[in-house]
Amino acid sequence: MQKYKWGVIGTGKIAHTFAAALKHSEKAELCAVASRTDERAKKFAEEFGFSEYYGSYREFAEKSDAEIVYIATPMASHFDDAWLCLENGKNVLCEKSLTINSAQTKKLLAFAKEKDLFFMEAMWMKCRPVYKKMKEWIAAGLIGDIEYIKVDFSNFIPYDPNDRLFRADCGGGCLLDLGIYPITLTHDLLGMPDEIISSAHMMYGIDMSNTIIFRYKNGAFSSMDNGFEIQLRNNAVISGTKGFITLGNWFHCTHEGILYDRSGKEAERFVRKDDINGYEYEIAEVHGCLDVGLKESPLVPHSDTIAVMELMDQCRAQWGMKLANE
Ligand SMILES: NC(=O)c1ccc[n+]([C@@H]2O[C@H](COP(=O)([O-])OP(=O)(O)OC[C@H]3O[C@@H](n4cnc5c(N)ncnc54)[C@H](OP(=O)(O)O)[C@@H]3O)[C@@H](O)[C@H]2O)c1
Repeated sequence: MQKYKWGVIGTGKIAHTFAAALKHSEKAELCAVASRTDERAKKFAEEFGFSEYYGSYREFAEKSDAEIVYIATPMASHFDDAWLCLENGKNVLCEKSLTINSAQTKKLLAFAKEKDLFFMEAMWMKCRPVYKKMKEWIAAGLIGDIEYIKVDFSNFIPYDPNDRLFRADCGGGCLLDLGIYPITLTHDLLGMPDEIISSAHMMYGIDMSNTIIFRYKNGAFSSMDNGFEIQLRNNAVISGTKGFITLGNWFHCTHEGILYDRSGKEAERFVRKDDINGYEYEIAEVHGCLDVGLKESPLVPHSDTIAVMELMDQCRAQWGMKLANE
């Protein structure tokens, strides 16, 4: 069986969750981890069983044998970290949001193409079984034409000036951290909107909450609420001319999707518990692509990643929001 040498950059919260899933993949060899300090790199390597560790991202990129690198640093660092990996001939799976704006994303993806390397935004939602089932139901015409999407992603998170979420210099704000999921779902199902109506509550130079409506010429619209200030159910409802689908709670990683007819009667329920912790599906997607020599994933194509970044640029422009060195 073809195995792949994995590297990880950044040893924060999601890197731990991802490594826990990676450890269980029989196609993954846990090769190397990079942190900004030797201590954290060593601790992470010991915890998950990586063979090598580096106290510098550059040293890791230049010296390690890793073939595919998972980048789990704050948004504002993704561009430099991913560039470093590509420069050193490494394939990349980079956390969302891929960069802080579409200009950076386009430059990075063009560089990946030039280097002929695999590059995927770690949009795990699109790799999950319930999400795929939802798309199957829609493609089979079971809800008819989509008229309305209602999706929210808002968690109450106490303010912490050191947390990347609240720091403009780290690419913080709820749009890039949470809003990307509702926008990705809407764009995946309805494409580019004809009009964006949005508003944000800005504080500390970032959006603490936002509300976004995408309007389409055919009359369809999507309504999205995102934030760090209030707790919502984080559900999605996709409603069409023949019925509707609900995903939730936490639509982006839900274990359950329900299909209803137009009268509200349940027609089908799809339930799928995770084998590990939910990140195994995107890991399998990366392996599947590498196995057949694909440079981008058909589930998370570069064109979608760019389109979603452009939509987020437009929202931020409506709020006058600039990040890091923009
Ligand atoms: N797919 C998902 O479900 C999911 C969930 C949560 C987050 N994410 C994404 O994953 C990325 C990381 O999120 P996280 O919640 O894991 O963040 P986190 O806990 O703050 O960890 C980020 C790590 O990046 C490194 N880093 C490099 N430069 C940094 C800087 N200037 N400030 C702080 N840390 C820095 C640090 O590792 P070292 O000190 O070891 O270098 C740090 O531990 C984000 O892009 C986020 O959107 C995805």
